[in-house]
Amino acid sequence: MENIRNFVIIAHIDHGKSTLADRFLEATGTIEKRKMREQFLDMNPLEREKGITIKMQPVRMIYKLKVQNEKIKIDSPEIFNFELFTLNLIDTPGHVDFTYEVSRALAAVEGAVLLVDATQGVQAQTIANLELAKKEHLSIIPVINKIDLPSAQVLETRTELAELLGIMPEDILAISAKDGTGVSLLLEAIIERIPAPIGVNNTEKKDGVDAHFRALVFDSSYDAYQGVIAYVRVFEGSIRKNEKIRLLMTGAEGDAIEVGFFSPERVGAETLSAGDIGYIATGLKEPAQVRVGDTITRHIDILKFRVESLPGYKEPTPLVYSSIYPENQDEYEFLRDSLVKLKLNDSSIFFEPEKSDALGRGFRAGFLGMLHMEIVSERLRREYNLNLVFSNPSVAYRVLRRYGNQEMIYSAMKMPDSHDIGSIEEPWIRGEIVTPPRYIGALTTLLNEHEAVIVGTVSLAGDRLLVTFEAPLREIIIDFYDKLKSVSQGFASMAYDMADYRVADLTRLDILIAGEQKGILSEIVPRKNAEYIARSRVISLKDILPRALFPIAIQAALDGRIIARETIPALRKDVTGYLYGGDRTRKMKLWKKQKKGKKRLEGRAFVEITPDTFLKILKKRR
Ligand code: GTP
Repeated sequence: MENIRNFVIIAHIDHGKSTLADRFLEATGTIEKRKMREQFLDMNPLEREKGITIKMQPVRMIYKLKVQNEKIKIDSPEIFNFELFTLNLIDTPGHVDFTYEVSRALAAVEGAVLLVDATQGVQAQTIANLELAKKEHLSIIPVINKIDLPSAQVLETRTELAELLGIMPEDILAISAKDGTGVSLLLEAIIERIPAPIGVNNTEKKDGVDAHFRALVFDSSYDAYQGVIAYVRVFEGSIRKNEKIRLLMTGAEGDAIEVGFFSPERVGAETLSAGDIGYIATGLKEPAQVRVGDTITRHIDILKFRVESLPGYKEPTPLVYSSIYPENQDEYEFLRDSLVKLKLNDSSIFFEPEKSDALGRGFRAGFLGMLHMEIVSERLRREYNLNLVFSNPSVAYRVLRRYGNQEMIYSAMKMPDSHDIGSIEEPWIRGEIVTPPRYIGALTTLLNEHEAVIVGTVSLAGDRLLVTFEAPLREIIIDFYDKLKSVSQGFASMAYDMADYRVADLTRLDILIAGEQKGILSEIVPRKNAEYIARSRVISLKDILPRALFPIAIQAALDGRIIARETIPALRKDVTGYLYGGDRTRKMKLWKKQKKGKKRLEGRAFVEITPDTFLKILKKRR
């Protein structure tokens, strides 16, 4: 176990984690040269397409450390010995929506390489991830990346990082993950500075008895043949292939039909022991039986010891909720199964059944942000071949009814009328923005526009400011990040975390089409902006909705009171086209008949919001 090192690479998005992982894979010969491709560990096609990491990915590498042979050093200094080290790396995503992936990986390792792009310096997510790593008491190796670029500011970044970490500048390594400069030194630093795992192997005695097996499930996936594959970090004891296992939280029992390591694809082995990161194929076919954060032990240990659970993970709280409906209602069951399977590989998704008059049976689902929601929708489409409609995303509101209890409201459709509400509370976030000082004016305006309050501003080394602010989550989730990038020409970065719930003056804005309320188009908006939003909604609906043979009224209402209205004019059908010349009264008669018909239609008109139209509406709202 002394020769094992478990670590993660953490960084702000695009600072080069996956590229550095590529160099590690090469330096350790884990991947053959001819099989190597860029960002190798981004294995999901979506990751490759978007150029971002969305899933953590473990990989086991064997590194030959050159050690000088002490005995013969004096006579021939060129003679070296090699010592083999097992390096277990977990590559993690950088985007704020996937922080839960990062935090789970952090609990499975002893050290972290903190990577900072020399052209960008310390960014918001660098600070946020560093805080997470510190909480887990990890050994941190600060590394400056992209030193090959002419615009690299190595000196400044070094000073900045040294100040952030309270260390000497010379303790910071400088590398180019692209051309490999400094990568061997970094591998040596990992071996030197990150402690070997502590734990008790089966071969070692603990209080005179064999150590029992305890492994933390930090991720999972589904295999059609082997059932749920649990990704584990073994903290104590060993397990052999085919031994009986028990999950402590769910109580599920199965067989370790295969155990092994990630290379990065799964490679079977005979045993997994304390300190190892690997997998256990559980044979269990029911995904809910294997939960991320659960502890796996051996059946035999349960009989002999009182096996206690490892600390595990806190369930993440979704930030954004949306309803998911299959375009084709026949696919409802399949959608449910797909969500259950997807949850194995993305434990942060939350979902429960829901019904809508317009769209049928579906699910209310919770996500950790808009990018997360987008990724889930893409994965369901690609990996499960499902065509889905996602409703307007919303945060979770805490509503105290005037004569009743408090309840959580996850979609505007379910928000009670104002007269029934005592108070509404909404979630607030606490955010951190790192920006060059020249953008502070534009940034303050942007924050004001989004109801944010600046709590503090401190100068960082390297001529940058760290702005701490608080804001309603509702204002941040949709497109705040894009706007931040645009007002700062891409230089500012942001990280945020949930803070608390605060009272808000909000109301439900309803949309009526041809006199009928369309619940799915309802929104929760600040009361003071309601009229402005109402106008813009009816105008954009007028552009989107298809015309019909009768005029369609589009109305926006607050508590049943219409506050904005537009009308889509009727399609004019040429009912007199076949009449050549002749008496005008004949035409008049036909027009009159057409008018009457339209009037009749208008009375009974039903305008259906198809999933396709709905998507167009949502896009326009953003
Ligand atoms: P996420 O996983 O999405 O957070 O990104 P990442 O941190 O894994 O970054 P990635 O490795 O995808 O690199 C981002 C971009 O920076 C890619 O275009 C890389 O080719 C480039 N890059 C990474 N390291 C270096 C480097 O040392 N030098 C130069 N010139 N480019 C680099």
